[in-house]
Amino acid sequence: MNILITGANGQLGNEMQVLSKENRQHTYFFTDVQELDICDEQAVHGFVEDNRIDVIVNCAAYTAVDTAEDNQELCDKLNHVAPGYLAAAAEACGAALIQVSTDYVFDGTGYTPYTEEAATCPNSVYGSTKLAGEQAVMKHCSRAMVIRTAWLYSIYGNNFVKTMLRLGRERETLGVVFDQIGTPTYANDLARAIFAAVNRGIVPGVYHFSNEGVCSWYDFTLAIHRLAGIKTCKVSPLHTDEFPAKAPRPHYSVLDKTKIKKTFGIDIPHWEASLAVCMKNLEE
Ligand SMILES: NC(=O)c1ccc[n+]([C@@H]2O[C@H](COP(=O)([O-])OP(=O)(O)OC[C@H]3O[C@@H](n4cnc5c(N)ncnc54)[C@H](OP(=O)(O)O)[C@@H]3O)[C@@H](O)[C@H]2O)c1
Repeated sequence: MNILITGANGQLGNEMQVLSKENRQHTYFFTDVQELDICDEQAVHGFVEDNRIDVIVNCAAYTAVDTAEDNQELCDKLNHVAPGYLAAAAEACGAALIQVSTDYVFDGTGYTPYTEEAATCPNSVYGSTKLAGEQAVMKHCSRAMVIRTAWLYSIYGNNFVKTMLRLGRERETLGVVFDQIGTPTYANDLARAIFAAVNRGIVPGVYHFSNEGVCSWYDFTLAIHRLAGIKTCKVSPLHTDEFPAKAPRPHYSVLDKTKIKKTFGIDIPHWEASLAVCMKNLEE
């Protein structure tokens, strides 16, 4: 199959590049904004048609959650309007589209894992534009899959794991929120799940994917420091209101992954096991 990966220089896009080496049966078109700006409708249609694309994996997004609050127009273009272009281009060629979305489509007032059917209610610009993107791809492409994920990290790009490693080495004390509960996701595991869907056959619909288990950002930080052997930084639990951020975060955003596991027969590692793998890869 001819597979187009957009946003290929990001965390997930890079992990898709890594796993393409284990999936040599396909032909890949790895693009980031320089090669294919997904906000350029004509360019998107031309690229998909000219290269006879069978599957688009959209890893491009506006992911800066706080700055999104002041950049609504740009964020909406990238997270909502552009995925609509990709979906229409896919539909015109009979291709499938995998759109990656977020746990921020939920308001986080729940206390049991969110299923795909749970009511959405984003409380940030980022979450609202990602939800609109989900709706656009489902509307314009009959072979669209939306995979919502959460707390993504990787050896590539900037992310929470790298920030906590740096702060842990620089500081003697650190406060991290303990009242936001979710599940970290190693982008390599998400890329593996995407390949499982591509190889077993696209089944349209909304899916949830994160690693297994549950933790707070505080617990996540302790695990990062423990695995890195950082003992000189005392980490303290903070309430959300002690660490003000521009965009509100869901207090609880654990995703129920039953559907993706059953549909594609995948096993998902626990977040601590995957964190250990990522940290080992970071050392190499
Ligand atoms: N990061 C998280 O914690 C998280 C959590 C839940 C869901 N997600 C979702 O997971 C997906 C992957 O996230 P990620 O963390 O891998 O994202 P990322 O690292 O921010 O990568 C996004 C990539 O898209 C590129 N891009 C920006 N504008 C573009 C355009 N107009 N056309 C083509 N490419 C463009 C970016 O380039 P520049 O860097 O040059 O802008 C970047 O290389 C996204 O859909 C995101 O919403 C992420």
